[in-house]
Amino acid sequence: MTITDAPSADELRHHMADHLVRAGCIRSKPWRAAFLSVPRELFVPDFTIRTQGALHRYSQGDPAWLAAAYQDVSLLTQFDQAGTATSSSTQPSLMAQMLEALDVQDGDTVLEVGAGTGYNAALLSHRLGAGHVVTVDVDPDLVAAARTRLRAAGYEPTLVAGDGMAGHPERAPYDRLLATCGVPRIPAPWLGQLRPGGVIVANIGCAIARLVRGDDHSAAGRFLPGLATFMNARPTADTVGASAGKLVKPMLTWTGHTRDITVPAGLDTPGPLFLASMLQPTVRDFTLTDDDGRQIRCLFEPNTSSWARVTMTGVTSARLDYGGPRDLWAEREPLLAHWRDAGRPGHERYGLTVAWDGVHTLWLDEPEGVSWHLPG
Ligand SMILES: C[S@@+](CC[C@H](N)C(=O)[O-])C[C@H]1O[C@@H](n2cnc3c(N)ncnc32)[C@H](O)[C@@H]1O
Repeated sequence: MTITDAPSADELRHHMADHLVRAGCIRSKPWRAAFLSVPRELFVPDFTIRTQGALHRYSQGDPAWLAAAYQDVSLLTQFDQAGTATSSSTQPSLMAQMLEALDVQDGDTVLEVGAGTGYNAALLSHRLGAGHVVTVDVDPDLVAAARTRLRAAGYEPTLVAGDGMAGHPERAPYDRLLATCGVPRIPAPWLGQLRPGGVIVANIGCAIARLVRGDDHSAAGRFLPGLATFMNARPTADTVGASAGKLVKPMLTWTGHTRDITVPAGLDTPGPLFLASMLQPTVRDFTLTDDDGRQIRCLFEPNTSSWARVTMTGVTSARLDYGGPRDLWAEREPLLAHWRDAGRPGHERYGLTVAWDGVHTLWLDEPEGVSWHLPG
């Protein structure tokens, strides 16, 4: 029998950094150095990992805790009363891609929205110096804990408790803005607090936008390669969201209007999922199985309680049941039809322009090409 020592934190950090380099997520020496230097475990004394729907809890001192802290997964660190995760340390491969996409230069000042555990702020502080990092979280308790842990790691960036949708004007203008919570639309203060030529990297819908600010307070750009969804920005620290699970029963029984529709093939591929999330960022999209074993696609918009249910009746034909003030399916139909007719482009062929007045325009291939105004 051979007895092998458990890997040290140093070894685990090297292993994680090597993995991120091999996966193409870390592309530069300074970010590799940051991931090699900052101890992730310091920021996550307690966390939960979700694997195939099951939750596994780890606490400092558990034999498996240290190795788990270096897995390339999101470490959930806070839940609301409904059991929805409200804070986490983001999956390192996603963090690395977003940090690389920021394309920071020495001397840049970065505003991070969503301080969470403070780990990302520590990586930014390692790269740029803590004096160049401002990080905001809506939850004052998280901010206090992040401050303590950042200090223990040797970093003292500016930590702010407040609504990151308002940015942090006191330190503006910023060279870069990184949001690690999802937003339905880019908040106007972010554009106002970014210098011309500055870069925003933020999750909208199920994609990560990388936008460059123009001279006129507008910003435009494309999306990072993979699709990813962060936890949504919340109005307050104690918001309790209705989980899709609570909608399961009513969604299959509600009655409303009915009509026959044609559904483009490939609806569950990344392209349509991306388009739907951009057009209707507050709509929850999920599939349920009815009593007859049929897969029913369900849409639900919590602000207006609008809903839609799509039951396939053929390869591309379906019955639509819907109710509420918004006809959710009709809203997405033109965009999906265009996507089908355009040869089913992936999300990387689309781009986004946010005008100075907050109007969001999605375009295909070129800003001057086919475009759609996204409702506010
Ligand atoms: C995925 S976590 C952030 C991960 C963090 N960057 C880290 O390295 O640990 C998302 C965070 O966004 C915060 N958040 C949600 N709504 C917010 C808002 N309106 N303003 C600022 N932060 C917000 C949450 O409290 C949560 O901590």
